Amino acid sequence: MLLKNIKSLIGVYDNSPQKLAGLDMKTLPLIENAWLACEDGLIIDFGTMEDFSGITNWKDLEVIDCSNKIVMPCFADSHTHIVYAGSREKEFVDRINGLSYEDIAKRGGGILNSTLKIREISEDELFEQSFLRLKEVISQGTGAIEIKSGYGLDLESELKMLRVIKRLKDLNFIPIKATFLGAHAIPNEFKNNNEGYIDLIINSMLPVIAKEGLADFIDVFCEKGYFNEYQTKQILDAGKKHGLIPKVHAEQLSHSNGIKTAVLCGSISVDHLEFCNEYDIDLLKESNTMPTILPGAALFLNLKLPPARQMIDSGLPIAFASDYNPGSCPTGNMKLILSLACIQYKLTPEEAINATTINSAYAMQLENEVGTITIGKRANLIITKEINSYELLPYYFGTNLIDKVIINGQKWD
Ligand code: NIG
Ligand code: FE
Repeated sequence: MLLKNIKSLIGVYDNSPQKLAGLDMKTLPLIENAWLACEDGLIIDFGTMEDFSGITNWKDLEVIDCSNKIVMPCFADSHTHIVYAGSREKEFVDRINGLSYEDIAKRGGGILNSTLKIREISEDELFEQSFLRLKEVISQGTGAIEIKSGYGLDLESELKMLRVIKRLKDLNFIPIKATFLGAHAIPNEFKNNNEGYIDLIINSMLPVIAKEGLADFIDVFCEKGYFNEYQTKQILDAGKKHGLIPKVHAEQLSHSNGIKTAVLCGSISVDHLEFCNEYDIDLLKESNTMPTILPGAALFLNLKLPPARQMIDSGLPIAFASDYNPGSCPTGNMKLILSLACIQYKLTPEEAINATTINSAYAMQLENEVGTITIGKRANLIITKEINSYELLPYYFGTNLIDKVIINGQKWD
């Protein structure tokens, strides 16, 4: 496939960085009036139309004219829970009427509400629901995704979720990373025996999941009423022994020392961060952990905003992801996430694009495969509608400016 007459091709690198931090997040290299070629699902070359000699010796070459359009790498969504059953709009209305996310959880709603649904649903039905959501987010420009378990909370149901993720992976649409989040909440049957549930995670769930190769990462919801910092470390350490790489849900509803624990355990990312403080920022600076902000969840739950600007200004990298899930963020639209990064968190459009492409790719160890326009990376690309500048992407926060999504070098529809 050949894309020609591209108004601007953005995020281009001969050698892709692994991630961008601090001031470097403002850089967004681009080529005006560009062409790009893909073959066998990969980007094989690109350049300016002035130097374009024409590719004449290819058979069945599909040419897309991108006049007045921008081409960029697809979004990388490094934090989602798109494998879930049913929806939770009653809790949404309860919150409108004054209850908090914590109030709802204390009454047995929240994550445990989704657990009831997951335990009832068949694997095939769960696959069908999740498959629709995967296709939905790809059509909105997501070209790589991480998906968590964590609504099953018993061996059989966690395996059901992870097998569905495996089936989505095996479709080979876009790169998918699977995260085992057995430590998402304490299920009712262990209400008075938290240690018993942790024992189940470590000694019953982890060995089977590792043996069947069902997860890449292990995650814990480190939060008051869920898992404390010591339990978080214990679970992450157990996961590491089975070859899983840690991620952490941290400092979302209170300061839980989740960042400290994530850094200590060598996590690839630490996510949410509403209660991140200066001490945490210093810890993150000494680590390779990608701080990841989930603005959809903060918006939907009306939480205070994580200090994104302060983090970047102190030299940190930052990623933005969707957290698509039925309780705290029922959208996986990464273009909206891009807008929120600019509007609410004061990232410049360049910083926001980097935060939702290369940095979020790093947060799921896919920085060598996606996230920039670089020869050898997957041809997972967004072609915009006719627009004058990429700044319009976050600016029109409610408008779909995506004309076509290219996945593995082919048009997605
Ligand atoms: O990332 N914070 C914890 N977990 C999810 C919410 C899950 C739910 O409410 O279903 C989150 O926001
Ligand atoms: Fe989450």
